Amino acid sequence: MLSDKMQEALNGQLVAELYSAYLYLSMAAYFDAADLPGFANWMRVQAQEEVTHGMKFYSYVYERNGRVVLGPIDGPPTDWDSPAAAFEHVLAHERKVTGLIGGLVKLAVEEKDQATGYFLQWFVEEQVEEEESAEAVLRKVVEAGAEPSALDGELGARVFKPPAASS
Ligand SMILES: [Fe+2]
Ligand SMILES: [Fe+2]
Repeated sequence: MLSDKMQEALNGQLVAELYSAYLYLSMAAYFDAADLPGFANWMRVQAQEEVTHGMKFYSYVYERNGRVVLGPIDGPPTDWDSPAAAFEHVLAHERKVTGLIGGLVKLAVEEKDQATGYFLQWFVEEQVEEEESAEAVLRKVVEAGAEPSALDGELGARVFKPPAASS
């Protein structure tokens, strides 16, 4: 059984993951409008991954006999000054999410909820990858400078891979 505090925090993270999807979908729209379909593809894949993260929280709360309660999702920004600015935002956002996951891990310890602590380890590892991949793409976008279209093919090759079925 989840404590009320833990349940509320997990539901909050479900919404945070869906906000991430919304943010990256907004970036996809920005890149589509800028005629960078490969960049837009990368963001669409990123958005799909974030939906699967949200669903992991949904499934986990349900599995623990908790109640999923969905709060409002904020509207994302719709414009960025440049492709590099968008990827700086991705990196800053992922660092923020890493902090949110860290807060949940701390709460799980305080609530003596080992199962939730274990569940969250997947997200601890995922955030290492998320920050690393955001840093790697940002570096390339900065290198490409005024010619972001040179990177468009590479970013267009990213394919969504659904995560393993277990939560
Ligand atoms: Fe996520
Ligand atoms: Fe993420």
